[in-house]
Amino acid sequence: MSKKKILITWPLPPAAMERARATYDVIAHGDDPKITIEEMLETAKSVDAILLTLNEKCPKAVIDQIPENIKCISTFSIGFDHIDLEACKARGIKVGNAPHGVTVATAEIAMLLLLGAARRASEGERMIRTRSWPGWQPLQLVGQRLDNKKLGIYGFGKIGQALAQRARGFDMEIHYFDIYRAKPEVEAKYNAVYHDSLDSLLSVSEFFSINAPSTPETRYFFNKDVIEKLPQGAIVVNTARGDLVNDEDMIAALKSGRLAYAGLDVFAGEPKINEGYYDLPNTFLFPHLGSAAIEARNQMGFEALDNIDAFFAGKDMPFKLA
Ligand code: DGY
Repeated sequence: MSKKKILITWPLPPAAMERARATYDVIAHGDDPKITIEEMLETAKSVDAILLTLNEKCPKAVIDQIPENIKCISTFSIGFDHIDLEACKARGIKVGNAPHGVTVATAEIAMLLLLGAARRASEGERMIRTRSWPGWQPLQLVGQRLDNKKLGIYGFGKIGQALAQRARGFDMEIHYFDIYRAKPEVEAKYNAVYHDSLDSLLSVSEFFSINAPSTPETRYFFNKDVIEKLPQGAIVVNTARGDLVNDEDMIAALKSGRLAYAGLDVFAGEPKINEGYYDLPNTFLFPHLGSAAIEARNQMGFEALDNIDAFFAGKDMPFKLA
């Protein structure tokens, strides 16, 4: 029997590419130049499924142009805000994501951002790299410790919980808000205090971590009013999606000192980020590194392929979204 044909829009880690090639006839696009939506739609005419990434934005207008032969899309990401699921459902296109591989890697980056922001790591690094370190001084780049500080986690899914576990290792107090309250045994495991509203969580969060998905309800929620509800000089980290934050309000609060520091891994409109961030000293900024660990990326590739395998076997995708 001839192999099914799949399009992979970006090169994946070797282990995932090998597995894909063992099962499928793979058309793999390179990463330079990146695939355009037009190229993706054109190539889609000659394949049976598409494995894409969060770079390929698929609003309704794009989904509506997907050729009839495509009934399976699997995304190499936990996030699926780049795909209009309703439009896929309307076209009878099954969609799956890769929800588990990212967990530990993303929680590690959130922890790194918390530490880097609290201990002013980017300012220290810059001092060395710009050859401007005058030598040790009692008041130089004095930050703050994490222990006994309240960490508010907004979004207590797998990544939020994995962050809680790591932050407990640094003796932080865990507080959280989520639309779904965690089971008592989960709260007990992290000694986590549940708040029944975002406002209540904000009021105690000396450190605040954004771990919620990007949805119409959460988009741009982190604005001036929300910032005003945090304790003076709070530290904020975001490893979820950039469009949860109103950048102008965040930048104004960092400039005025209302927020002490921000550690950001994700940005609205990335890679073109708000100009205001570039020169702000009190930011610790990463280029969307959350899942960039080989263990995570391998597993993400396998999960994305598991969806496609299940689809061709006539089964439900294991990580089905639509
Ligand atoms: C995801 O999987 O959605 C992450 O943002 C990728 O790092």
